[in-house]
Amino acid sequence: MIKKYTYGTPFETEAVVVDIKAESTPEYGTVSCENGFCFEYQMEKQDTVFGLGESNRGINKRGYLYISNCTDDPEHMEHKVSLYGAHNFIVVSGKKSFGLFVDYPATVCFDIGYTHSDILKITCDDDNLNLYVIEGESAYVIVKQFRRLIGKSYIPPKFAFGYAQSRWGYVTKEDYREVVREYQKYHIPLDMIYMDIDYMQDFKDFTLNQQNFNDFTEFVKEMKQNHIRLIPIIDAGVKIEKGYSVYEEGVKNNYFCKREDGSDFVGAVWPNDTHFPDVLNKEARKWFGSHYKVLTEQGIEGFWNDMNEPAIFYTPEGIQKLKGNMKEFIDKEPTKEDVWAMRDELRYLSNNPSDYKIFYHHVDGKKIRHDKVHNLYGYNMTRAAAEGLEEIENHKRYLLFSRSSYIGMHRYGGIWTGDNMSWWSHLLLNIKMMPSLNMCGFLYVGADLGGFGADTTRELLFRWLAFGIFTPLMRNHSAGGTRRQECYQFERTEEFKNLIDVRYRLIPYLYSEYMKAALQDDMYFKPLAFVYPEDEIAREIEDQLLIGNEIMIAPVYTQNAKGRCVYLPEQMMMLKFLGNGTIAVDTLEKGYHYVNVDLNEVVLFVRKGCCIPVAEAAECVEKINTKNMVLYGYSESEYFLYEDDGVTKEYQKDCKVLKKG
Ligand code: GLC
Repeated sequence: MIKKYTYGTPFETEAVVVDIKAESTPEYGTVSCENGFCFEYQMEKQDTVFGLGESNRGINKRGYLYISNCTDDPEHMEHKVSLYGAHNFIVVSGKKSFGLFVDYPATVCFDIGYTHSDILKITCDDDNLNLYVIEGESAYVIVKQFRRLIGKSYIPPKFAFGYAQSRWGYVTKEDYREVVREYQKYHIPLDMIYMDIDYMQDFKDFTLNQQNFNDFTEFVKEMKQNHIRLIPIIDAGVKIEKGYSVYEEGVKNNYFCKREDGSDFVGAVWPNDTHFPDVLNKEARKWFGSHYKVLTEQGIEGFWNDMNEPAIFYTPEGIQKLKGNMKEFIDKEPTKEDVWAMRDELRYLSNNPSDYKIFYHHVDGKKIRHDKVHNLYGYNMTRAAAEGLEEIENHKRYLLFSRSSYIGMHRYGGIWTGDNMSWWSHLLLNIKMMPSLNMCGFLYVGADLGGFGADTTRELLFRWLAFGIFTPLMRNHSAGGTRRQECYQFERTEEFKNLIDVRYRLIPYLYSEYMKAALQDDMYFKPLAFVYPEDEIAREIEDQLLIGNEIMIAPVYTQNAKGRCVYLPEQMMMLKFLGNGTIAVDTLEKGYHYVNVDLNEVVLFVRKGCCIPVAEAAECVEKINTKNMVLYGYSESEYFLYEDDGVTKEYQKDCKVLKKG
């Protein structure tokens, strides 16, 4: 049962796809619109709160503060309250269970027992919004209802389930060829190499560096002969440069975001000064999306959209203010407070909230200040791309994901979780974030494996890849200037082969479960609490997850650990993919177990009465043979295998039944 409550005149976010008649007063909590919007609910002691997609801390969100405000924050430590996405859906689960979706495109504050341990308080600056309240007998049922409300999740092509190498710093063709050569040398499977900003000419969207990629079509072909797809990045800001066609067209047609006085707003990103396409405006969105063709015409089949919070390093207005304050600073004998204030001014020049208040969007004849719709920018940039790609070939699936997002964008693309760090704590955050993202509709998800910022270690990379085997997006990505982290940069490279082989051996299962989740508005990653709600221990476990319907994983995420303690809510069959490519099988009873997991091993647990198909290892997705798979698990069980061509949008209705003898 879903009810809608409308306050004021909400901005149409298009997050929801079902038309529901608005009602008057919600049965849960109290709403006040005196000073902006405020929803308050008295939580019971035992209530758990799920949701909020890409946000910090645990699967149970209770006990902290979360602010939906898409933010470029590469240093997101545990105390940070805003990350790259804004996913305003929560489920309160307890004696009374209900879901809440706050469809509001500006900042939303979720105080979930932070100020007062039993009070859930949701506040927005103004009271123009739609609130959806979803009832159901359990958190899981509520999530599935919500997912129907917001429409089907994005489905990538099958090759996007392969392993990908990325690095900010590949510049020449030789850099890409080296990656291919090294992976091939060790027979480590690889399907994609990501192209970061250096492939462009002076960081201009939809251009190629002339010196390095003058015959790009040929290069794309060469890579495809090696069964590698190149996936270029597209940034939100369009470089200001006379003669650059994207810039010229945007200015001429008023497709960029404007200042109050009607001039084009300027914000600095990688190319220095840029204009931001007004992707909330239909015509501008269509125009921006039409440019992806420049690259698809050269054989490209996937993109990642970046810097679309939008990230702003600085604005001329910000610099002006800073210069004035600097002058004052220079002319006086500064105290320590003056020095700190100056340091902060420089530091907070980037992504400064005041900059988001000085530019405007033009939507259906109305002028809207950016900060009022801030959380919709990345969503609409990715929508622009998806709609543009659909125009090119409407039956073809393209790989597409974004850094910033809002609920609704899950229909157009996936996300990666932004600039994490090579920290063990970020591996754990990655594990906990995945089911929350699924609750909000984002199924094609993953983090930068090995960590983006800071130097990784061989051990951290191993453990992170071992978890990444189960994330739909499996990409090793890192920042320039950090320790290189392609598998072949480390000793005993051949040991990585076994790990990545396991991904390819499991792709038939992982893809099948992904597709079932996408087609049935279900979750691919589930917290144990959703599947074993009666089990007190399982309900609190946040470092073990269910992947699809048949398996549970318990990743190792601590340095120097030789294994870990695992809780089984029921009897399960443990499959251990050993370093030599064989699989050891053991049946474990319900309860706690200490499980040894060597660095190059992968352990998973098949649920009681189930089985899963395991293929032979293959060097790329296309070469996976689903004809000679072996079923592992309980005898007399069945697995329903979903298969399709992985390329078109012709999804299948039926699954193939595989029977284990
Ligand atoms: C941003 C992205 C990161 C990328 C870098 C350079 O920080 O999040 O993935 O490598 O920009 O383009």
